[in-house]
Amino acid sequence: MRMIFLGPPGAGKGTQAVKLAAKYGIAHISTGDMLREHVRNETELGKEAKIYMDSGRLVPDELIIEMVRRRLKKEDSKKGFILDGFPRTVKQAEALDELLKSEGIVLDAVVFFDADEETLVRRLSGRRVCPNCNAIYNVYNEDYPSEDCCKNCGVKLVQRDDDKPDVVRQRLKVYEKETAPLLAYYKDKGNLIAVDASLESDEVLRAIEGLCGGKDDSN
Ligand code: AP5
Repeated sequence: MRMIFLGPPGAGKGTQAVKLAAKYGIAHISTGDMLREHVRNETELGKEAKIYMDSGRLVPDELIIEMVRRRLKKEDSKKGFILDGFPRTVKQAEALDELLKSEGIVLDAVVFFDADEETLVRRLSGRRVCPNCNAIYNVYNEDYPSEDCCKNCGVKLVQRDDDKPDVVRQRLKVYEKETAPLLAYYKDKGNLIAVDASLESDEVLRAIEGLCGGKDDSN
């Protein structure tokens, strides 16, 4: 299975990518998680990326494309992958096309997570994440841990810096300007499928599996 998860901030791409990657034993490649790890480790890339991320802007294409190019060469990507949060601009999509073509890889689907702005803002304001294992929770969801600690590793959950209201507004604007044009890009290629991402999480999962055939043909 080789898929792209496309959609606005807070639509649930990361939540579903974690579940599907675990279920099918494929790589979950989240450019947001990779960048946050660089920020935590204070690498040169992390220091530069932080400036963009904290203000809700996109990190420059060249940096992201190189980061993904290296990631896709790793062994675990060979079985299949979900690209979560990449590509995010037409330039990134074109670079990915080149990259996949040179490796003889064909995408199975580009999944568009469709949700209204009210849902997105509510989800982002309630999101808490584990700074250790990147697990995602939401204070508005029933399964939110009562002690504010990660169910996997017990670490105290935190709010992402870019989930503050003014940064969220900026991220939504950037999405409309830079990323929404990718819907037409992939529609033209014929591999875009849309799911109603405002549904309850398990329903979204079922919808994706239904639309993608729910099979693991990556071996
Ligand atoms: P990134 O981390 O990729 O953020 P994003 O795309 O804005 O997406 P989010 O992580 O905010 O949302 P999501 O759709 O994954 O939702 P989630 O599953 O967490 O990027 C961050 C920054 O890094 C960017 O702003 C940019 O600066 C930089 N960057 C990253 N990639 C880049 C690129 N390619 N190019 C340039 N710059 C890049 O869910 C949200 C919340 O809702 C959670 O609390 C979850 O528990 C809850 N939830 C999810 N689904 C449901 C449901 N069905 N019902 C109820 N609650 C739900």
